[in-house]
Amino acid sequence: MTSLSRRSFLTALPAGVGLWALGRPLMAQAPVQIDLRAAETSAQILDRKTTGLFSYAAGGPAPVLRLKQGVPAKIAFQNDLDEPTTVHWHGLRVPNAMDGVAWVTQIPLGKGERFDYTFTPQDAGTYWYHPHCNTFDQLQRGLNGIVIVEEADPPAFDADVPLVLRDFRLRDDGQFSALSIPRNAARGGTLGKVMTVNWAVAPDVAVPAGGVTRVRLANTDVTRLHKLFIPGSRGKIVALDGHPVEADHPWPDRAEEGLWLAPGQRADLALIGPDLGQALDLMTDTEGGTVALARFVGQGAALTRGVADIPVLPANPLPRPNLDRARVIDFVFGWSPQGKAKGASALCGDTGQRFWSINRIAAAGDGPEPGAPLAVLRRGETVILRLRNETQNHHPIHLHGMAFKLLTSDRRKILPQWTDTALLLEGETMEVALVADNPGDWVFHCHVIEHQKTGLSGFLRVE
Ligand code: C2O
Ligand code: CU
Ligand code: CU
Repeated sequence: MTSLSRRSFLTALPAGVGLWALGRPLMAQAPVQIDLRAAETSAQILDRKTTGLFSYAAGGPAPVLRLKQGVPAKIAFQNDLDEPTTVHWHGLRVPNAMDGVAWVTQIPLGKGERFDYTFTPQDAGTYWYHPHCNTFDQLQRGLNGIVIVEEADPPAFDADVPLVLRDFRLRDDGQFSALSIPRNAARGGTLGKVMTVNWAVAPDVAVPAGGVTRVRLANTDVTRLHKLFIPGSRGKIVALDGHPVEADHPWPDRAEEGLWLAPGQRADLALIGPDLGQALDLMTDTEGGTVALARFVGQGAALTRGVADIPVLPANPLPRPNLDRARVIDFVFGWSPQGKAKGASALCGDTGQRFWSINRIAAAGDGPEPGAPLAVLRRGETVILRLRNETQNHHPIHLHGMAFKLLTSDRRKILPQWTDTALLLEGETMEVALVADNPGDWVFHCHVIEHQKTGLSGFLRVE
């Protein structure tokens, strides 16, 4: 049995060069066992230490968890926060009881309580983990990390670099300011003030000079829709939201072509590293102008790889939708006709406000009575979800437990892609398809967490 402590993960993972070669699995596929703990902590983000952070590690961001495709994993979790929490595995197709959704799949874990999350990852790729109880506050305070599921037969990159994108709502003195502003929750959401990558402001990230680095970008922000690009870069997008891309997808080097990465989404970029000592900037295009999030610096023996050397990722074993026989189900994302919540439980955080709805129903909130499913799917059937956004905001729509495939949009050309989180632009209607192969109640919500927590949430039942 491999037993990896939290500390050894921290020291073994952030490095760049050469590690990947060591990652090749040996013949014996011992179960992966990880101890994980959530607690309050403090860390240096600005000049003065920020207190009141939450993390799965002491004094810094969460460990990157490395699981293996097809190999059983056991994550022994302990809650050392002063409030209830759960751990959800965003994008991983796990059994319902392991999905970590408070009240829907498990009772929230109080202080000191433990829960073993056990599942066998079916899909390789970049995923993330985060609480699903008081999600807005806990995420804002930093409680989330990347989960990497290594391919059963790992492709050869020169380095592997996971990057967590997150804005913190900090004042100049490094302390948190009010996390949510209600009038923003009723619009695009409350933005953070300090952009970070792995909890650092504009850090240098070492990559092998001239080599191919797999950069795993996870937008864990509660609000910000990133538009990412790297001026002067060469590279390709090799996976989106965990799943390898099916069409050729060059990496954008200009703001106008920037990659939209919404809250909850991930992108795997195969980046050709800059020359020794040279740098490339990871930029995001915001309303106020472009901002450098991080800088890739070429290090080590100079390699001479080109775009043609970028490995092709093997497809994940997803069930193919049978579109000829598919049932179409409509979902309308809109304002809330209700205004205020009735009888929501405060245990997992609820302001009592309702601004948003799915099919005219504002979610009850995280509590012992989650209400009726938005739809009931028969196990094994293919359904087309027609997602209509009648609001003036963008909504990254996320489904638990099953991946779905993007089919059409009435607003733009979209590439065929498997995902768990689809960015639905203002006024857009999109069709997506899935095979309902995973039984249980699966939460379906916007990943702008203030939207989720003020009504834009529900669940699908597969029976
Ligand atoms: Cu990333 Cu329901 O969550
Ligand atoms: Cu999720
Ligand atoms: Cu939304």
